[in-house]
Amino acid sequence: MTTLKDKVILITGSAQRIGRILSLGLSDATLILHYHTSQDEAQSLKGELDKRGCRSSLFKADLLCSENISKLFDYITKKYGRLDVLINNAASYKKGAFLEEDDFDSCLQLNLKAPLICAQHAAKIMPKGSSIINIIDKSANKPFKGFVSHSISKAALMHATKALALELAPNIRVNNLMLGLILPSKGHTQNAFDKLVEKHVLVNRQPTNQEIVEGARSLIENDFINSTTISLDGGWI
Ligand SMILES: NC(=O)c1ccc[n+]([C@@H]2O[C@H](COP(=O)([O-])OP(=O)(O)OC[C@H]3O[C@@H](n4cnc5c(N)ncnc54)[C@H](OP(=O)(O)O)[C@@H]3O)[C@@H](O)[C@H]2O)c1
Repeated sequence: MTTLKDKVILITGSAQRIGRILSLGLSDATLILHYHTSQDEAQSLKGELDKRGCRSSLFKADLLCSENISKLFDYITKKYGRLDVLINNAASYKKGAFLEEDDFDSCLQLNLKAPLICAQHAAKIMPKGSSIINIIDKSANKPFKGFVSHSISKAALMHATKALALELAPNIRVNNLMLGLILPSKGHTQNAFDKLVEKHVLVNRQPTNQEIVEGARSLIENDFINSTTISLDGGWI
């Protein structure tokens, strides 16, 4: 069993929403809080962690740019000399016409290629017993109508997890955390979201923050979970 004390965790897209929930819930570790445009939210998150006596640092990077990803890992290597957990959380969720080529490229770049490049850099500084979590959603199994690029990107990432686990074994474990309906997406009202929850989620509610964090924590702490997908969806129909 891996414990988080003395571990260094990178969470991409940590400043708000699910990234923020994970950051606050995993704050017994040392956190690298990656953000891109949400600087105020990132600083406020760091302030909250400071108040709790948790160790964290901020790093801004556009993950669409491979050079910026290199700089992020140069920073981690210089400051901490290691990384124990990588959580590939940052992603886009853009409705798009089938098939808008620019959107397809940027979606695949952010949702698939960036997590893979992060994993490649991470593996170089990860000690034995480290792990990588790729956050995916139900579209990896069954495409969402109107989200062709997104669904393809998450399905490919789900598969990439297995390929990475094969490459990085036995020292580094790689798993997917597949989320169901967690938070209304931008532009979705709470009311519309509640209707979706009623239709698709057997427990008929959103998860608590603690339930979300426990999903990630189990993948980090249980050294025998590898090359698989854990679903956190309340029972999906
Ligand atoms: N929300 C849900 O109910 C739900 C359900 C299933 C799965 N998921 C998955 O869970 C994860 C988090 O979901 P979420 O709804 O919290 O995500 P989100 O708010 O849509 O995006 C998370 C973060 O991604 C970062 N990001 C976007 N473009 C970027 C870029 N070019 N470079 C670097 N970072 C970039 C943003 O950082 P900045 O804000 O700093 O720009 C953003 O805060 C995603 O992988 C998503 O697919 C979410």
